[in-house]
Amino acid sequence: MKLYDPQRKAPQFDKVPRHIALVMDGNGRWANKRGLTRTEGHKAGEIALLEVVAGAIEAGVSNLTAYAFSTENWKRSPEEVRFLMGYNKEVLRRRRDLLMEWNVRIRWAGRVPRLWPSVIEELKLAEKLTAKNTGLTLTMAVNYGGRQEIVDAVNKIALKVAQGKIRPGSITERTIEKELYVPELPDVDLFLRSSGELRSSNFLMWQSSYAEYLFSPTLWPDFNREELWKAIAEFGGRQRRFGSAEDAPLN
Ligand code: IPE
Ligand code: IPE
Ligand code: MG
Repeated sequence: MKLYDPQRKAPQFDKVPRHIALVMDGNGRWANKRGLTRTEGHKAGEIALLEVVAGAIEAGVSNLTAYAFSTENWKRSPEEVRFLMGYNKEVLRRRRDLLMEWNVRIRWAGRVPRLWPSVIEELKLAEKLTAKNTGLTLTMAVNYGGRQEIVDAVNKIALKVAQGKIRPGSITERTIEKELYVPELPDVDLFLRSSGELRSSNFLMWQSSYAEYLFSPTLWPDFNREELWKAIAEFGGRQRRFGSAEDAPLN
């Protein structure tokens, strides 16, 4: 079966989230359950990501942001960190032509300090190559932390204030949004995490302030487009109020 086939259509959904935040979690457990090393689990996650990207395109999602390496993941063993750095680079290089064919625009969200320069280069190259694509925007969160993103934005604003470009007291939500790693990213509608962990782990904190959270017990390497579609269907049944209120009809 082809990973992505423009002829294949996803089921009809009541509502399709514009932006899905995806925490690809559970690779290590998936591998250890099979007596394999954690790195084997990461390797098995590559195809799950492509499956989900294809499923997202088929469903009509316009933005998917995938958590690939957090600013906290540096705490892992040097071997695992080294593997993940190299692996992020390889996957981008190996898959960018396919993503190009799918009309996917690749972006990077994350911070520069500590990240391997060769990984940054690969991310920037993929961004450049796919810059004119008009389909799904796939943002890879690599060396990403939600608090760090806000801290980095605040520092950029502080500099502009010191330079006299921004007047103190005039800072709004929009001012902060403009300084985030990918300012064009819309708010997250659906925050989806695999592997049964019930936490956000510092992912897209600013953008997810009104997201619908959904947790799947499936470990990331077992994830596929049907799992994504199940999540989108469940999202469609959620009633989003954004703070407003409506009377239920009185009987
Ligand atoms: C997610 O899987 C991938 C990354 C964090 C890079 P994990 O490696 O966290 O797998 P578990 O949670 O230990 O099973
Ligand atoms: C979140 O997963 C980061 C990524 C999926 C890249 P973790 O496995 O690192 O999160 P914690 O440690 O369980 O919170
Ligand atoms: Mg994990």
